[in-house]
Amino acid sequence: MVRPIGFLVGLGFVGVLLWSLLWGVIAFVSEPPAKTVEHEFHLAPKHVSFSFDGPFGKYDQAQLQRGFQVYKEVCAACHSLHLVAFRDLQGIGFTEGQTKTIASEWAIETPSINPETGEPATRKSIPADKFPLPFANEVAARAANAGALPPDLSLMTKARHHGPAYVYSLLTGFQNQPAELLKEFPDAKTPEALHFNPYFANLNIAMAPPLTGDGQVTYSDGTKATVDQMAKDVSAFLTWTAEPKLQIRHSVGLGVIIFLLFFTILTWMAYQNIWRDKKKGL
Ligand code: HEC
Repeated sequence: MVRPIGFLVGLGFVGVLLWSLLWGVIAFVSEPPAKTVEHEFHLAPKHVSFSFDGPFGKYDQAQLQRGFQVYKEVCAACHSLHLVAFRDLQGIGFTEGQTKTIASEWAIETPSINPETGEPATRKSIPADKFPLPFANEVAARAANAGALPPDLSLMTKARHHGPAYVYSLLTGFQNQPAELLKEFPDAKTPEALHFNPYFANLNIAMAPPLTGDGQVTYSDGTKATVDQMAKDVSAFLTWTAEPKLQIRHSVGLGVIIFLLFFTILTWMAYQNIWRDKKKGL
């Protein structure tokens, strides 16, 4: 008796599921959700390969140093890197002496107190200092950027999906608004102070294209500073700021896999050994 009742209850549930599925499909077909301009024109990050991709990936130190140069000469005017100290640059191959020079020559000085008067003042940075903020606070940052806040870039590549490719695509993705977009969505014209970029979530970003032409920086290693190259290098540098220990993580991961494989083989052999004398089927 219990079985037929159980069967009927099950059948009832399946029936309700099928019914709601059917209505869902009918509702979707008869009235599809309204299309939005972001849905239609937003693009996923471009495919770009970096030396640190994949489980064996390693940073290319020369590229990180070039990326730092781009950050220093272009992005640092607006974006802070407040989790990184000058001395951390030794991790990308600068010597202690070089980090001292970079710190003391940094365009913005570190806030301090005048020891004579107790008044707020600034002083030259030392390697132990974090990169000084380009603006005094959020209000000042917004005032200088048409109301938008340039975010801190220390962890940016971790904060966005496909971080390095995203930053690269964003920097190389500025373009005129496509004519089809305006035809389909006449109200979606990019506002005066913003810039169209299909890789940015809402398509219009307050940042003006920061990399504007080849040769904007002069690389000391002879690499040609095309917009594409600069974008790639600074994306690599920002990946390092977000994850300076990536290489260690990769090699530890590999070690762990090798250990687990070895351990599995050992366990299997021990199992064979322990049960060797026992007859099967008992
Ligand atoms: C003149 C100031 C300025 C410069 C120079 C500048 N940016 Fe920006 N950036 C901004 C502003 C303002 C925003 C915020 C945009 C918004 O929210 O619409 C921003 C946003 C960003 C974002 C975040 C996008 C997101 O998904 O939220 C990234 C990444 C970025 N900038 C990278 C860079 C890099 C890399 C450089 C150097 C090559 C650079 N920026 C140079 C002003 C600047």
